[in-house]
Amino acid sequence: MVSVGIVGTGSYVPDKVLTNFDLEQMVDTNDQWIVSRTGIKERHIAGPETPVSELCYQAAVRALADAKLVPEELDLVIVATITPDFVFPATACLVAERLGAKKAAGFDLQAACTGFLYGVATAAQFIASGIYKNALVIGGETLSKILNWEDRGTCILFGDGAGAAVLQPVEEGYGFLGYDLGMDGAGGNLLTMPGGGSMHPASAETVAKKMHTIQMAGSEVFKFAVRIMGETALKALDKAGLGIGDVDCLIPHQANTRIVDAAVKRLGIDAGKVVVNLDRYGNMSAASIPVALDEAARSGRLNYGDIMVMVGFGGGLTWGAAVVKWSKRGV
Ligand code: ACO
Repeated sequence: MVSVGIVGTGSYVPDKVLTNFDLEQMVDTNDQWIVSRTGIKERHIAGPETPVSELCYQAAVRALADAKLVPEELDLVIVATITPDFVFPATACLVAERLGAKKAAGFDLQAACTGFLYGVATAAQFIASGIYKNALVIGGETLSKILNWEDRGTCILFGDGAGAAVLQPVEEGYGFLGYDLGMDGAGGNLLTMPGGGSMHPASAETVAKKMHTIQMAGSEVFKFAVRIMGETALKALDKAGLGIGDVDCLIPHQANTRIVDAAVKRLGIDAGKVVVNLDRYGNMSAASIPVALDEAARSGRLNYGDIMVMVGFGGGLTWGAAVVKWSKRGV
């Protein structure tokens, strides 16, 4: 099997910033509650004219430039999202067309906040087996478009953005060393957008009942997240033949600082090794990990040979972790 690594990253968020103080004008909440319960201070919101494909495209352009790769060379484009432009065609088709990735195959993948990790794990198999050479994996979301802006329990948590990574063969022993992916459909009702699928097709009734917005059992998801983040990270490390002491950088899904802090404590990892940017972006679901990855890479937090772990959880329920020996030199 060929070693596969991340050779370029990129990210993009819309310009408009919605602060906690702005939210105070919209629902019965306050900055102090949001910061103390979640760590979030502000989030970026796409305008009504901006679909997720636009955010994905912008992140992809940056990732391709970082990888010094032209779109025509891409063999595979995967977009992880729960907020596609359309049910079909796939957002991957729209992004590939706009990029000019003429020879690429592609599809959308849906694993909620774990989507980017499912995406890189999938893309890496095509490269490891020698089928493809260049893959682009994007996690993008416009969650603002599926929020109930009258529900203070959910509307304060989420933001919009996209992050992308280019995967290629890398030197032997570098790149992806281990994965752990999992799901538990029994918890599907804890985090869902029930309307618009074949169970509850769109109707005046589904709109009136706000079934096209995120519905979440927050405290149940919280307990699940704290437990699973540590478990899945350790399993992936074990598969890579490594332990928590080997980790130089941990990039967790950015849902809530209390979840990240609890997972960090359970893992016993130095908090200085953990990338946290949710204060500026909120929870961007599939985009959270790749945006944090791009910021970590560009700010010099990832150095050649570092062991980096990405770990996440989300609706489904789903979870996953990937262990990477960083193969890029320089920022
Ligand atoms: N502002 C002020 N008060 C609020 C707000 C708000 N925005 N939201 C809830 N409250 C109130 C509640 O009504 C409740 O009041 P009560 O005690 O009078 O009934 C009180 O605050 C406590 O509410 P809880 O829901 O128990 O608060 P909790 O500490 O659990 O925090 C939170 C809520 C932040 C949602 C937390 O449960 C959480 O982060 N859960 C995980 C969410 C998550 O990670 N989701 C991932 C989704 S990603 C994906 O897959 C799309």
